[in-house]
Amino acid sequence: MSLQDDLKALRQQALLRISAAKTLKELNEERVKELGKKGSLTEVLRGMKDLSADERPEVGALANEIRNALTDRIAERQALLEKEVLDAQLAEEQIDVTLPGQPAIQGQPHVLQQIIEGLEDQFMGMGYQIIEGPEVEQDKYNFEMMNLPKDHPARDMQDTFYISDELLMRTQTSPVQARTLEQHDFSKGPLKMISPGRVYRRDTDDATHSHQFHQVEGLVVDKHITMGDLKGTLLAVAHQLFGEDHDIRLRPSYFPFTEPSVEVDVSWGPVTPDTKPEEIEWIEVLGAGMVHPNVLEKAGVDSSVYGGFAFGLGPDRFAMLKYGVEDIRNFYLNDVRFLTQFDQKG
Ligand code: DAH
Repeated sequence: MSLQDDLKALRQQALLRISAAKTLKELNEERVKELGKKGSLTEVLRGMKDLSADERPEVGALANEIRNALTDRIAERQALLEKEVLDAQLAEEQIDVTLPGQPAIQGQPHVLQQIIEGLEDQFMGMGYQIIEGPEVEQDKYNFEMMNLPKDHPARDMQDTFYISDELLMRTQTSPVQARTLEQHDFSKGPLKMISPGRVYRRDTDDATHSHQFHQVEGLVVDKHITMGDLKGTLLAVAHQLFGEDHDIRLRPSYFPFTEPSVEVDVSWGPVTPDTKPEEIEWIEVLGAGMVHPNVLEKAGVDSSVYGGFAFGLGPDRFAMLKYGVEDIRNFYLNDVRFLTQFDQKG
């Protein structure tokens, strides 16, 4: 066989093998095998040295043609295989944008926080300041300045966690009244504040008692504050929390820091002009009254000039009434199944 025949046979077989390469790796191996330095084409061309000068250009031209043909076929095949690889990858990584997403779990304010923030918004709208006080409190502010000297019997109403003789976990937010009165500069205007926060009592936890709960204290002191102002304010609170059609009623009561003192009930259902008084169910929700002159005087405020009202309400109790929660401990267990029921997003 002539060298030309060898070359033609090589071309035919090489083209077949190139077309048969199934992967890019196989194709590359084939390229090396056919066109590489030690490849079959080079091998055949080694025989050129034995040819006559007449034959060489012809064989050389054929060899070039074969090299080009093989190079083209390899490039073609390579393009095809690369496309296959890409297609396979795209198919595998395909994302179905119509699949429902995985919802992100979104947090929300605790139900008590919702109640407290509702009150904060409301009172800020009425020009009140929001003031916080310490939970570890001095006996002086928690009791003495609130008109409860050491031997006062009403101290028993609030079983206290004492830290030392003078330090305790505050049993009420009322000490913030004393702290604020002490600081307030009345030449700059009236004092209007609420103070939300945690309070502590040495109670045994049960459905209606918790050793830790919340209060929101309110205090307004100025020159001509009346009980009418107190009632109007608390009515606004009841409307915000329970609905515009609920009413409130004040009953005489006793607190050492207010005189007169009242207990405030809110109507369980709506009250319209047609509702008969005996049909209304009243629920006690908070304590309030006109600030006792002693509280003002102990804080250095002239009680012959200034007076005001105060109230203390329990967001825990409000939330229980509003949502029909029967066990106060639910608020403190942090069970998300309970808490997500009060999702504001609806
Ligand atoms: N501090 C009282 C308590 O914890 C609640 C209270 C009653 C606060 C009457 C007040 C008030 O400011 O005027 O039982």
